[in-house]
Amino acid sequence: MKTSEKTLNDLFLEVLKDTYSAEKQVLRALGKISKAADSEKLAVALDTHRTETEGQIERLQQVFEMVGKPARGRPCEAISGILEEANEIAQEFKGSEALDAGLIAAQQAVEHYEITRYGTLKSWAEELGLIEAVPLLAQTLEEEKKTDQILTELARERVNEEAADASVDQ
Ligand SMILES: [Fe+2]
Repeated sequence: MKTSEKTLNDLFLEVLKDTYSAEKQVLRALGKISKAADSEKLAVALDTHRTETEGQIERLQQVFEMVGKPARGRPCEAISGILEEANEIAQEFKGSEALDAGLIAAQQAVEHYEITRYGTLKSWAEELGLIEAVPLLAQTLEEEKKTDQILTELARERVNEEAADASVDQ
């Protein structure tokens, strides 16, 4: 027997609000993380994702409209914690050779969190018959995955450059 009237629709709205709050926090943080980066390539990748994030926020606003609710966030503590860690790395590893490795890892934690949220939202939108929301959520999901891949490549390049530098030093 169910003892609560809450539905999957309610849950969808909760996660939508959480994700909306997360994206807005990420948007604010990305500029800072990009400025902290050593590598120009990393800074460009982060700036590109910042622009994408603006579009992702707009897509979420469209989904709110589709379900007839005001676009309002519900403070996402998980992303606050991840971004706080990114901030600590930016400060504590400033000027060190490990800075970019730390920033990339922190941003990948952000992307992975977002990937789970959009994967969930997309599945639930399908289940709830929110047919118009599905492609919007799928598009953002792909952008997050692509960003994660780009960061993986940048991390690999960084390792190769370090190795090349080390062999020159020998
Ligand atoms: Fe995002």
